[in-house]
Amino acid sequence: MFEGKTIVLGVTGSIAVYKAAELVREYQKRGADVHVVMTRSACEFVGPVTFETLTGHKVSVETFDRNFQWNVQHVALAKRGDVFVIAPATANIIAKMASGIADDMLSSTVLAARCPKLVAPAMNTGMYDNPATQRNLETLRGFGVQIVEPGVGMLACGDEGRGRLADLEDLVDATYYAMTVQKPLAGRRVVVTAGPTREALDPVRYVSNHSTGRMGYEMARAALALGAREVTLISGPTALRAPYGVRMVPVVSAREMESAVLAALPQADLLVKAAAVGDFRPASVADQKIKKGEGGLTVDLVKNPDILAEACAARQPGQVIVGFAMETQDLIANARAKLEKKGADMIVANSLTEEGAGFGGETNVASLLTASGVEKLPKMSKLALSEEILRRAAGMLR
Ligand code: CTP
Repeated sequence: MFEGKTIVLGVTGSIAVYKAAELVREYQKRGADVHVVMTRSACEFVGPVTFETLTGHKVSVETFDRNFQWNVQHVALAKRGDVFVIAPATANIIAKMASGIADDMLSSTVLAARCPKLVAPAMNTGMYDNPATQRNLETLRGFGVQIVEPGVGMLACGDEGRGRLADLEDLVDATYYAMTVQKPLAGRRVVVTAGPTREALDPVRYVSNHSTGRMGYEMARAALALGAREVTLISGPTALRAPYGVRMVPVVSAREMESAVLAALPQADLLVKAAAVGDFRPASVADQKIKKGEGGLTVDLVKNPDILAEACAARQPGQVIVGFAMETQDLIANARAKLEKKGADMIVANSLTEEGAGFGGETNVASLLTASGVEKLPKMSKLALSEEILRRAAGMLR
């Protein structure tokens, strides 16, 4: 997610400072080089040594700290960042950023930075709700700064309410969105399906498949990063966390997914059908648990609706539809047949037999089929692949 990227993390004096140390790790795990700037009050909670040890870089606190690497350090750091994140952000730094005050290392660096900025407030509810803070946040939004709303819960002061630092995984997603500068899906509504479907056999058993939902969830994440104004994720049962900012529509069976897709389709510009929809369901669902008995069990299966084909038939002019094809043989020929038969604009074909492709893993190997030909993409992360697919799909939108 952050390979080759530099994240400048500004840390201010909130009790949530300890979570910023964890956030550094989350960024690094995803490939980022992290530089930390702290305010003096942040250092009262956690010492700079913690962040220096984690990042391997000197932590900047004082503007006039003599430093032989960079002469004007606040400008040097401001130029290095691909994204500037302030987490946790106090009411004080938010007010300074809104007014353009530069009276310490962090406020000077953030004022000098031209890269995208993200602010994650963490403070007492009263301070957060104060009209001055709310006005300052509005001002920052107007400057194009992304704000990750704090969560609701028990605060350090004992109050219950809004003010705790957003979840770290949401911060990671929001950082990725903020850092992605090109927004070819700006203003668009995207619907993504993901995960397996489950078809009940009786009250305790079901028929399903090995899909983990990962490809579809990364698709939704990438769509938000590429600027989509709304991403609806229609998902069968998975163990995955919803990407930050997504509208989740949980479903279980193929027929539930069918209704959800057909309901969401009229408002969508782009539909991405990454779900592994079960092709068959038991002809009847037993009311009570089927007892083992003496012999074996034969189950009659009937066909499920083909949601992709239905969506293609129901679509309005201008809507773009991307389907997937997972094959174990004759990848391109089978995928081309699906493209033509179902009427999709693009089929993302992946072979289960290829190394680095398939269920659950972090990477995928895919070929993109459209009316104009086949493009084989190299092995890449499912997130990077999602970006590639969505950029091409965005190019097909009118
Ligand atoms: N799909 C769907 N509804 C189904 C089955 C599949 O919408 N009942 C969609 C999938 O979401 C995917 C595409 O169709 O985008 C292809 O899925 P795949 O399982 O590869 O193909 P099938 O249509 O099931 O065809 P086959 O069984 O012949 O491989």
